[in-house]
Amino acid sequence: MDVRELIEWQHALGADEALEHQPRNHLVAAAEPTPKPTQKPALQTTPAATPAAETNAKPLPASSPTPVGARTSTKPVGSTNDAVLQAQKAANEANSLEELRNAVETFDGCLIKKTATNTVFADGVPEARVMVIGEAPGASEDEQGIPFCGASGKLLDAMFAAIGLSRQKNLYISNTLFWRPPGNRRPTPEELAMCRPFVEKHIALINPSILVLVGGTATASLLDPRTGITKLRGHEHHYHNEYLEQPIATFAIFHPSYLLRQPLQKRLAWQDLLHISTYLEKNFSGVS
Ligand code: URA
Repeated sequence: MDVRELIEWQHALGADEALEHQPRNHLVAAAEPTPKPTQKPALQTTPAATPAAETNAKPLPASSPTPVGARTSTKPVGSTNDAVLQAQKAANEANSLEELRNAVETFDGCLIKKTATNTVFADGVPEARVMVIGEAPGASEDEQGIPFCGASGKLLDAMFAAIGLSRQKNLYISNTLFWRPPGNRRPTPEELAMCRPFVEKHIALINPSILVLVGGTATASLLDPRTGITKLRGHEHHYHNEYLEQPIATFAIFHPSYLLRQPLQKRLAWQDLLHISTYLEKNFSGVS
């Protein structure tokens, strides 16, 4: 196989993202250089870094979380906490949507930002009664910087259009993560924890009448980590966080990408949409 075929093969297997800042030649053996007998032994209290794995990599700042796919033997235990604290401080200080967007765009604690093309903040009408929170940007969203603008976004738009809601008129849409996880893998608990202060402040600044959590990740991150979406959907819940004055009526619905794979479940999704529509009708005489 030549190099092009090797790359195409890896791409077909789903390895479509570069995870490190520098290329690494995995075909070269990662041998420790043998010190020459005349060399003085280096004064070190910690073991030397493995050369092939780490010489090319930029050193991480103390507050950085473990990078995606990093081959480190010692996990920087405090780094996720540092990033979460940093995110909390930035979220606390943001007093408008513009300030929050700026805080998210300048936050460097979450390493997936480095492999992303764009920060995907939100789309829709900030004054909307209904705020939707999905999982994380995919490839189209990363390219365009707009949440839910790919295949699952088309289905999401069609689902909400069926009950008179659209991002052009009366819907506001964001995600639990603001950057695409490489290769569309699931968000890690650390990434969710780092973005959560921003998401919480985001919800408080929009202050919607209804929150719709789309899919298991958003539901677990914001509502209940112990109960699956299959049990949480179909009921009205109440979401609260420290920035809110009062809880918000909350509904969980299946993720459109799940519905694309399991079209029979659209029946339940339709029930959930009707539930949301009825709630809006009953409490606000409709959507607008
Ligand atoms: N899936 C999500 O959860 N969010 C997006 O923005 C796109 C796909």
